[in-house]
Amino acid sequence: MTHLVTALMAEALATKLADALMEGEHHLDVAAAGAFEQAPPDWRFEAWFEAAPDGGEWTATVRRLLGPAADDVRFEHRTVDGTDWVAKSLDDLPPVRAGRFVVHGAHDRAKVRPNEIGVEIEASMAFGTGHHATTAGCLRALDLWAKRARASHRKGPRRRSPVMLDVGTGTGVLAIAAAKAARLRAVAGDNDREAVRIARENAKAAGVAGLVTVVEAAGTRHAAIRARAPYGLVVANILMGPLIAIAGELAAVTRPRGTLILSGLLAWQARAVEAAYLARGFRRVRRILIGDWATLELSAASPQARRG
Ligand SMILES: C[S@@+](CC[C@H](N)C(=O)[O-])C[C@H]1O[C@@H](n2cnc3c(N)ncnc32)[C@H](O)[C@@H]1O
Repeated sequence: MTHLVTALMAEALATKLADALMEGEHHLDVAAAGAFEQAPPDWRFEAWFEAAPDGGEWTATVRRLLGPAADDVRFEHRTVDGTDWVAKSLDDLPPVRAGRFVVHGAHDRAKVRPNEIGVEIEASMAFGTGHHATTAGCLRALDLWAKRARASHRKGPRRRSPVMLDVGTGTGVLAIAAAKAARLRAVAGDNDREAVRIARENAKAAGVAGLVTVVEAAGTRHAAIRARAPYGLVVANILMGPLIAIAGELAAVTRPRGTLILSGLLAWQARAVEAAYLARGFRRVRRILIGDWATLELSAASPQARRG
């Protein structure tokens, strides 16, 4: 059984509460939390627990995180069957548009317009339905990258299309999106076995199983990841700590002048992560801010700069 807490509230409150719960600024055992746009002006807040939280602790935590505004919000608690809560939650989620990508569930397949790239992700316990600002930030950066790659492909001599590495793939959303946009080969790793299973299923359903290889790996530690290095495009949407910890690993597998897209960062954390990568010869190309979350696009040093 799973316990679900929902409430309608203003966007600022819903995102603040969901972010604080996901950041761990509390003692509650939250499995997932999110804020989703509804009919204006409401946003729907959701928090998922494996077991119902203690009522007193929930109220005190929300009061501490939201202040007096919490008193005006009516939270609904219910227990849902563990086998179908995921599907129920996806039914509530509208498709998400980021760049040319539209991440959607099967029930919204018809909403993808002809000039858009649909990425169908089924509801699952893995992270990556496109509704989080970090996934959306990475999708925007990927879209810009894919457009640039197409333009330089048209101008220059035929180059082998770069292989992508997706570290912390979750549902596989970013690798699937890139494979669909640029027909490139991708290796996608996650240190969570269930995410690996789900990403493989999603890649198959999207018709890109032949392009996306999914492996269970922490960081770049897998023979299949090392074998295909260096990569022209590396994406990692994990958190600040792991991103800094694996900066050396990611630098080692990124091709000179290759693109590195990093997310999972609150805006104030982006500088520290940037510093760790600038020290390894990367330069910042852009920073995408969505709400409180940052996505960084970095470019690896040229071969000359690496030698010097
Ligand atoms: C925030 S989710 C991102 C999912 C997806 N890439 C997206 O953008 O929506 C982070 C994922 O990274 C995985 N992860 C966290 N640390 C990792 C690490 N050091 N190596 C590999 N995977 C990791 C988690 O299991 C989770 O599935």
